[in-house]
Amino acid sequence: MNAKETKIKKALLLYSGGLDTSILLKWVPEKYGCELITLTLDVGQNSKDLEKIKDKALKLGAKKAFVIDVKKEFADNYITKAIKANALYEDSYPVSTAIARPLQAKWAVKIAEEENADAIVHGCSGKGNDQIRFDVTIATLNPEIKIIAPVREWNMTRDESIEYAKNNGISIPVNHSKPYSIDENLWGKSSECGVIEFPDKEVPCDVLTWVTNPTDAQNEPEYVILEFEKGIPASLNGEKMELWKLIMKLNEIAGKHGVGLIDHMEDRIVGLKSREFYECPAAIVILKAHKDLEKYVSTIHENQFKPLIDQKWTYMAYAGLWLDPLMEDLESFIDKMNEKVTGKVKIKIFKGNAFIVGRESKYALYDLKLATYEKNHTFNQKNSVGFIELFGLQTKMANQVKTNENLE
Ligand code: ARG
Repeated sequence: MNAKETKIKKALLLYSGGLDTSILLKWVPEKYGCELITLTLDVGQNSKDLEKIKDKALKLGAKKAFVIDVKKEFADNYITKAIKANALYEDSYPVSTAIARPLQAKWAVKIAEEENADAIVHGCSGKGNDQIRFDVTIATLNPEIKIIAPVREWNMTRDESIEYAKNNGISIPVNHSKPYSIDENLWGKSSECGVIEFPDKEVPCDVLTWVTNPTDAQNEPEYVILEFEKGIPASLNGEKMELWKLIMKLNEIAGKHGVGLIDHMEDRIVGLKSREFYECPAAIVILKAHKDLEKYVSTIHENQFKPLIDQKWTYMAYAGLWLDPLMEDLESFIDKMNEKVTGKVKIKIFKGNAFIVGRESKYALYDLKLATYEKNHTFNQKNSVGFIELFGLQTKMANQVKTNENLE
């Protein structure tokens, strides 16, 4: 629905405290003559003080400012699915921003309904994926609620936005020399804008806030043991932990060792290619460990098939189609395969790398007695001869046919 055509009385703004949404706090009531309330969700972003964001919202004119901690919900209902699906979009990006959007949209609809707001405002531009994720989810959950995305219409450059903020008494965390657009949650941090837009230039160290530059990371490795239960990390170094806490702890450990930097040329859903820079220390370690363990307990056929399902799940999550029924269909398969992904993985973290150095599981399809090259193995090597003859039959035959034809 076009927000301009209908009168809006009360709008709920998804407020991060950053540049664009702070401008919206002033801009929307001015433009639409409506009341504004804000919603800020704690998904584990590094904004130390969400109370400060709340104060800022109220100071800038919001009638009410909600701050809700959804870290546990995010970890338990969203990140778990990404882990089980080994979700790395284009083999690189752990879909960290992408999977938080449907959760944020869900809460926005809930609070908007409770507060009788007739519109939801978000700060996404018309060039990114986030607008798709918000709009599709909101419209699916409540088609009556109008969606306002002024950044899509106002065409301000980043510099102009910074000027607008300055002229309107809005304090902002960016300036012309550090103009990065940042999105953070438990599963990772993404940075865009500024020099990052030049794919040939190395991303400067001033972007890094979660991960130590690997060059400066300590020279001693650190070992980490992750224990999985049905595909989900349940303990870290022997200590049982809620997932959101485990992720926070691991972000710290792996980040300190320079693990988790991702420089990615990304294919956005809106057609653009863009250069994205991520810091995802815990995600990289957990995904690597999960994949290793899953492979260890699954057959060759399962291991060949699962990536096809994973890739589709990851694409759907990236594309903002979280609520499409296909997601549940895919998850039935993914969950089934993860029932046996239980066991421990030992990871060596060292100067920007996470090496898997050990794994164990009661469901392992590994048998030392079969695999060993030592004397008392139980594998009957004589069987291999007949097996190979049949296995290579068609390959051999096809080549013979080719050779015979060439002779004629
Ligand atoms: N490219 C990522 C995605 O589409 C991140 C988008 C948000 N990033 C940002 N810095 N504002 O999921």
